[in-house]
Amino acid sequence: MCSLAFKPHPDLLVGLEAADDAGVFRITPEIALIQTVDFFTPIVNDPYRFGQIAAANALSDVYAMGGRPLTALNIACFPLQTTPAEVLKEILRGGMDKVHEAGALLVGGHSVEDPELKYGLAVTGIVHPDRILTKAGAQRGDLLVLTKPLGTGIIATALKGRLASKEAEEAAIRLMSELNRTAAEALEGLEVHAVTDITGFGLLGHGLEMATASKVELTIYAGRVPVLSWAREYANMGLVPAGSHANRRFCEKHLEIDPRVAQVEVDLLSDAQTSGGLFVAIAPQHGEQLLSRLHDKGVIDAAIVGEVTDTGAGKIKMKP
Ligand code: CO
Ligand code: CO
Repeated sequence: MCSLAFKPHPDLLVGLEAADDAGVFRITPEIALIQTVDFFTPIVNDPYRFGQIAAANALSDVYAMGGRPLTALNIACFPLQTTPAEVLKEILRGGMDKVHEAGALLVGGHSVEDPELKYGLAVTGIVHPDRILTKAGAQRGDLLVLTKPLGTGIIATALKGRLASKEAEEAAIRLMSELNRTAAEALEGLEVHAVTDITGFGLLGHGLEMATASKVELTIYAGRVPVLSWAREYANMGLVPAGSHANRRFCEKHLEIDPRVAQVEVDLLSDAQTSGGLFVAIAPQHGEQLLSRLHDKGVIDAAIVGEVTDTGAGKIKMKP
């Protein structure tokens, strides 16, 4: 996509050159549209819960921009010849229930026949043009808050190899199905400078995107990052998806790892997440307030995982 010539527009507030979580287009001085789309192959066996995860994941980018989802469209690539209709119906039901839970409406969609099942949604939301939260804007001194634990990528890999325990599976599914709505609402009225959601590039990859867009250096303390205990256990057994290594290599030049940090911590922080949590840069005087709001609202694993330690070209320091 990088070689395409993007067309600028005075009302295109967040477009493709910024590579943010979603596109944002101003339609009135008070309202900007947020648009995003995501779909993928099943990562869990239960079709209803796969639908829920796919929808929570697609809705997440609207929350990551500071917005509220209004409508959603299904995107379905279904192997109609080989998969029972009931399975496909359950996927769509899971997605729709999650869209409703978000207070949004499912208004349509499109399906095509495809030998490999894929499902996701295009989501439209709104935000006040002055309150858009992008990856740019983190400032030196900000605290960094992560709202969900890491490790769903490692557990999904263990599931594929039939190595994950029932509890690990259940914990990962619950986490991936959880909307970032409550976390996003907790940000209201606080001095939040930058937000993104943690997905395929892991905490280090998306953190680096924020650092680069904001022209700052982030310091992340591995010991403070919440991680699902089963993921740590599987990572210690060497069950690390190939994507994590790719993520790590992608970040390497801009990553300074303290020699006291164990390799397994680097693997966990590089773990590709589906429907991961929000990653927030917030003014230091509001950090504790955000954390207690999150914990009070049931986002119990949220933690302050680091801080913005300097200005610069975009870099992450990883400390124990
Ligand atoms: Co995103
Ligand atoms: Co996305």
